[in-house]
Amino acid sequence: MSVRKFKVWRGDSGGGQLNDYQVEVNEGEVVLDVIHRLQATQEPDLACRWNCKAGKCGSCSMEINGMPRLSCMTRMSTFEENETVTVTPLRTFPVIRDLVTDVSYNYTKARELPAFAPPPGVAPGDYRMQQIDVERSQEFRKCIECFLCQNTCHVVRDHEPNKEEFAGPRYFIRAAELDMHPLDAKNDRKEFAKSQQGLGYCNITKCCTEVCPEHIKITDNAIIPMKERVVDRRYDPLVVLGRKILRRDQIAPTASAEPTVHAGPVKVADDMAPVDFGREPTPPLPPELNAKGHVNLNEMLSDRSAAASPFGDDLSFPVDPKGLNYYHPDKH
Ligand code: SF4
Ligand code: SF4
Ligand code: FES
Repeated sequence: MSVRKFKVWRGDSGGGQLNDYQVEVNEGEVVLDVIHRLQATQEPDLACRWNCKAGKCGSCSMEINGMPRLSCMTRMSTFEENETVTVTPLRTFPVIRDLVTDVSYNYTKARELPAFAPPPGVAPGDYRMQQIDVERSQEFRKCIECFLCQNTCHVVRDHEPNKEEFAGPRYFIRAAELDMHPLDAKNDRKEFAKSQQGLGYCNITKCCTEVCPEHIKITDNAIIPMKERVVDRRYDPLVVLGRKILRRDQIAPTASAEPTVHAGPVKVADDMAPVDFGREPTPPLPPELNAKGHVNLNEMLSDRSAAASPFGDDLSFPVDPKGLNYYHPDKH
C-alpha cells in the first residue's frame, strides 16, 4: 500500500476546478478503485459513472492524464510512484457533474443511422449467412459503446458546431458493418455516410483507433474502405466515362434508385430441418416444494439451480444440429 497524489476535476455545467487529493493505492488496483476509495473516505458526493468494472459496459470512460481511457481498465501500476494522476471528464461532451458527462450526442447519431434492412419477403429463420461474412463484421460488433473514440476525434472535440453534421467513428463502423452485411437490402450506406454522416470530415488521423479499448481497427477496416468505395463510385474515370457514354437507362442504378439486395438466393441444406421460430417454449417449471410446502432454499437440492433456460425447458443439450439456424459454408 502507498499513498499517491491525484488531481480530480470537480464541478458541473457552470464550471469547476481540479482538486488535489492523496489516496491510498494497493497493489493491482485500477483508477476506478481509487475513485471509489476517494468517494468512501473523502468525497462522498463525487460523481462518476461505472457498471461492470470489467471493461465491458463502456460506462467508466474518463480522461486520465489527458488520455481518454476506461478507468476500470487503467492499472495504477502504469504510472510512476511519484506521479500525480489527473482525472478529468470526457472533454467532447457536456459535463453533468464531476466525472459524469452527457453522452446523448451519440444516441442522437445512433438514431439517425438507418437500421439493418432485411430484404423484403425473407422471413425470420430463412436468413442464412456464410461464416466468413459473420467474421468480417464481428470485429465491429465488439464495440462496447464507451464513446472514447467519439470523444477523441478532433472533428468534434474542438469544434462543437461540427456535431450537427458529423456522426463520428463509432457510427462509421456501424455503417461499414451494415454495408458489408450480405442481407442488408439498403445499398446506399456509402452515400449516406458521405452525405449525412460527414465521412468527408474524417482525415484518417487514426486517433480513434488508438484509444479503442476493444482494439477495433476503426480507421483501417471501416473508415478507409468506406472512403475508397465512395471515391470509386464518384470519381473512378471509367465510371465517369461510362456515365457520359451510356444512356441513363443503361447505367446501373445508384443509391437514389430502388435498393438492391446484396444476397443471392437463400440456400437451405437438404438435411437441415426447418427452424421453427414460432415454437412456443414451455414455461419454466415451478420449483419443487418440500414437505412443509416451502421452496427448498438450498440451490444444490434444486433441479434448476440457475434461471430458466431462454430456449425453453423442453430442450436438452447439446441441441440437435439439424435444428440450428446455421448453414456451414463447406456444405454447398
Ligand atoms: S480517423 Fe477520422 S474519425 Fe478517427 S479520430 Fe481521426 S478524424 Fe476522427
Ligand atoms: S469503437 Fe471502440 S472506442 Fe469507439 S465506442 Fe466502440 S469500443 Fe469504444
Ligand atoms: S465499468 Fe464497465 S467498462 Fe469500466
